Amino acid sequence: MSGKVVVNRCMSLDGFIAGPGHSMDWEDGRALADFVAPDDFAEIAGATGAMLVGRRTWEVGARMAAEKPDSRDYPFSGPMFLLTHRPLEPPNPHVTVLTGDIGEAVATALDAAGGKDLEILGADVAGQCLQQGLIDEILVYVLPVLLGDGIRFSSPGVGRTGLQPISSTRSGDATILRFGVRTQSEQTG
Ligand SMILES: NC(=O)c1ccc[n+]([C@@H]2O[C@H](COP(=O)([O-])OP(=O)(O)OC[C@H]3O[C@@H](n4cnc5c(N)ncnc54)[C@H](OP(=O)(O)O)[C@@H]3O)[C@@H](O)[C@H]2O)c1
Repeated sequence: MSGKVVVNRCMSLDGFIAGPGHSMDWEDGRALADFVAPDDFAEIAGATGAMLVGRRTWEVGARMAAEKPDSRDYPFSGPMFLLTHRPLEPPNPHVTVLTGDIGEAVATALDAAGGKDLEILGADVAGQCLQQGLIDEILVYVLPVLLGDGIRFSSPGVGRTGLQPISSTRSGDATILRFGVRTQSEQTG
């Protein structure tokens, strides 16, 4: 059985998934893992079988890892797929580079997830997936901060999308919201 395709995001209360200049500093240098209860973080990572990541998200992650090598990371070590038009320099043997059709990329990564969920990381990549009706669920960690400016949850081109509330849970200093994405027929019906 196939897992779900899940857009996984943390977000400020005013709807930004990163600050100006792609900053991921949410409050005094706290990373996402510092807001969420460790058990919840581990449970969500445990349900994840693969990740599909956009190139800009990858570059922001690489920059953060270089700046703060000791920061707590997402406890995930499964297959990682990177969507990009450019080769990685230097190549990373643990990452599969994909390019082109978003539907094929999602199918490839979901297959590698081995029945677990596929996480989609990156606003542009998630937007393409939403436009193509490829997303089953959206999981948002709402963080207790107003950023005022930055990278918005939705990228241009993502139209009105009906969602079905699944759950809302307080986790440490974050609130975890889950929504199912209605299918095209549910949206128009
Ligand atoms: N708060 C959170 O939880 C969270 C999670 C993830 C990301 N973010 C933030 O979101 C921002 C990044 O999102 P973003 O929307 O700017 O970019 P993104 O979705 O991470 O990456 C977009 C890039 O991926 C490549 N790409 C996308 N689709 C492709 C396709 N079909 N084929 C080949 N390459 C493709 C292109 O790069 P090239 O053409 O250059 O190769 C494109 O410019 C960052 O600020 C990051 O920190 C936040």
